[in-house]
Amino acid sequence: MVKIAPSLLSADFTRLAEEIRSIEESGADIVHLDIMDGHFVPNITFGPFIVKQIRNLTELPLDAHLMIENPGQYLQAFRDAGSDWITVHVETERHLHRTLQQIKALGAKAGVSLNPHTGLDWMASVADLMDLVLVMTVNPGFGAQKYIPAAAAKIRDIAAFRAKHTLSFDISVDGGVNEQNAREIIGLGADILVAGSAFFSCPVAERPMLVRKLRVAQ
Ligand code: DX5
Ligand code: ZN
Repeated sequence: MVKIAPSLLSADFTRLAEEIRSIEESGADIVHLDIMDGHFVPNITFGPFIVKQIRNLTELPLDAHLMIENPGQYLQAFRDAGSDWITVHVETERHLHRTLQQIKALGAKAGVSLNPHTGLDWMASVADLMDLVLVMTVNPGFGAQKYIPAAAAKIRDIAAFRAKHTLSFDISVDGGVNEQNAREIIGLGADILVAGSAFFSCPVAERPMLVRKLRVAQ
């Protein structure tokens, strides 16, 4: 079954505990954490200190999506803070293979994210290390942007690569996912849908229904 990962980027951080409880009560599967440094992306969010607080609020898996330069420097800190998945951007990596090895050595699942303009030439050489490919379908940095339809071909190519090599990594789609496009995205091969503004703009009482609708193709 497709998994739903609400992104806290659009949550009300003055009511973080309630927002996280609503994720649990909605039936969603993963908490997606957007970590931004003001260098790799033009926005700043939060770091391991807040991740640790979030860890204390839920037992759901935490996916730390690192939109930061030099992610290698912070892997240990994000792992110690309780991240189950650590996802780095291929564009930040001179040594992607080594970084993924380091994430796995820390006992976390290793994810690779890629910007909308980034191709797939790196994938074959790290395929055995990847637990997750997080495809950006907006330019990273902000929530509530519009899904970029040109990303569809890439999602399909990643799914085809996975099938051809009988691999089992998950494909997650991040950016502009909503009730209108979820079915199409699942059809392309996505296993996980990240939803920020779609989830948190929805009234709390309607979030369980939204999660069911996002799994439309099931
Ligand atoms: C963007 C983030 C996304 C974002 C998704 O840089 O990686 O996770 O929060 O938000 P929506 O669903 O609003 O596009
Ligand atoms: Zn994200």
